[in-house]
Amino acid sequence: MTLPQPLHTLTIPRLVGILRDLGIRRFFLVPDPDHGELVASHAVLQPLADFIQADGRDFDGHEGLFFQVSRRHDTLQGAFVHRTCRGQAAGGVRYWSYDTVEDYLRDGLRLAMGMTHKNALAGLWWGGGKGVMARNPAVDRDDPDVRADLYREYGELMTSIGGCYVTAEDVGTCVTDMAAVFERTRFTTCIPPAVGGSGNPSVPTARGVVAGMRAALEHLGLGTLEGKTVAVQGLGNVGEPLVDFLFDAGVARVVGSDVDTERVARAMERFAGEDFVATVVERGDDAWLAQPCDILAPCATGAILNPRSIPRLEARIVCGAANNQLEDPVRDDEALHARGVLYVPDFLTNRMGIVTCADEQAGYVSEDPLIERHLGRDWEHGIHQAALRVFAESHARGAAPGAVARAQADALSFEPHPIFGHRGPAIIRSVVVNGWAG
Ligand code: NAI
Repeated sequence: MTLPQPLHTLTIPRLVGILRDLGIRRFFLVPDPDHGELVASHAVLQPLADFIQADGRDFDGHEGLFFQVSRRHDTLQGAFVHRTCRGQAAGGVRYWSYDTVEDYLRDGLRLAMGMTHKNALAGLWWGGGKGVMARNPAVDRDDPDVRADLYREYGELMTSIGGCYVTAEDVGTCVTDMAAVFERTRFTTCIPPAVGGSGNPSVPTARGVVAGMRAALEHLGLGTLEGKTVAVQGLGNVGEPLVDFLFDAGVARVVGSDVDTERVARAMERFAGEDFVATVVERGDDAWLAQPCDILAPCATGAILNPRSIPRLEARIVCGAANNQLEDPVRDDEALHARGVLYVPDFLTNRMGIVTCADEQAGYVSEDPLIERHLGRDWEHGIHQAALRVFAESHARGAAPGAVARAQADALSFEPHPIFGHRGPAIIRSVVVNGWAG
C-alpha cells in the first residue's frame, strides 16, 4: 500500500482509516538503544518517527511513544513517556480535539515533558508522561457507553505497556472515566474514592496557589496577603475555593470573572458578605485581565498570557492554577520578566492535583504530612521554598522565572529513583523485544 506522505499532516480519522486498512491496531515509536534514533514498530510508520526525531521544539529524547486505535469508535489513543529516572511516568490522559496528527503528537510530547518538570520540581518520585486520546467528531462523547468503552480500552493500553506510564485524570476526562480505566489496569491513579482513590484535588490545588502567592509577595518584599487585591479568572473547581482561602488570609478585595453566568451568580451569593465582585465575560475577551490588582490568578484556560494581554497587566504578580498560561513559554516568560511582573510558573504552583494522586497506592492519613509538606514553608521541595529558589536564581541571573524553573526541574528529573531509577527504559525494552504486555 502506498501511503500518503507526509503522515503527520493527515487528519486523525484519515490516519486511523489507514491503520485499519493495514491491520495495525497498536504501534510504538521508541529510541533504538544503540544509536538513539526513534524507530517505529512498523516500517511503514517510520516517517512519523523521523518527523518527531527531526523536531527540535517539542521532542526532547522521549523514552517511548505508544499508540492504539480503539476497537470501536475509531479513536486514536496514546501514551507519551518522557523521562522515568525518578520513577514510572505519571500524568493525566487528555481527551481533546486535534486537526492533524502533528497537532496531536506535539500536544502529547509537550504535555509529557511538562509532567516531568512538574513532578520533579515537586520532589515526587515519579517520572513524566501524558496520555492523549483524540476525539473522533463522528462519535458521541457524551454517551456513557461510548465513554466506558473508550476508557476501558485506554486501561488495556496501560496494561499492555507494562507500567512504564501510570495514567490519571486530565482535561476532558472525569472520575467516572477513571473508574472505567481501572477496570482494565492497575496502572492508574485518580480513581473514585469509593474504590480507594483520592478524589477531586481542586481544593488542595487552590491551597497550592495561595502558597505560590505568599512566596511571590515575600520575594518582592510586599508582606503578606493581608489587604491585597486579587483578580481570579475562572470561578470553577479551583477558582471558587481559592476566593475563600484568600478572604481567610485577609485579602481586602477579590474581583472574579467567568464565562458562565451561573458560576458568577453562585460566587456572588457565596461571597455576598465580602468585598467581592464577579463579572461575566465573553470567551476570548482578555480585556478583563487588565484589572487593577496586586495579583492576577489565572484559573480558567491556558495561553492567556501573550503579546496582547501582557502589556496591559496591572498586577505585580501572576500566580494561578491554569495549565500552560503562557501562550509561548519562552517569549511570554521573558515579556513578563521585562515588564517587572513576577510570574509564578504554573507547573510549580498548580502541582497539588498530581501530588494528591501520587501516593494513592501508599494509603491515606488524615492531614497527610506527605501532602501538607507541599503547602508549608519548611520542606525544600514544597511550593514555598521551590518558588523562592526559582525567584532568587531568576533575580541573580536576570533570567525569566519560567526558564529558571524548567532548568531546575530538568536537573532534578535526572536524579534516579533509589530503587526503580532504571526500570522505565527496561520496561520499554521488554515491550519492544517481547511484544505488548497485554
Ligand atoms: P473548571 O472547569 O472547574 O473551572 C474553570 C472555569 O473557568 C469554569 O467555570 C469556566 O467557565 C471558566 N472559564 C473558561 N474560560 C474563561 C475565560 N476566558 N474567562 C473567565 N472564565 C473562564 O476547572 P478547574 O478544575 O477549576 O481548573 C482550572 C484550571 O486549573 C484549568 O486550566 C485546569 O487545567 C487547571 N488545573 C486544575 C487542577 C485541579 O485540581 N482542578 C490541577 C492543576 C491544574
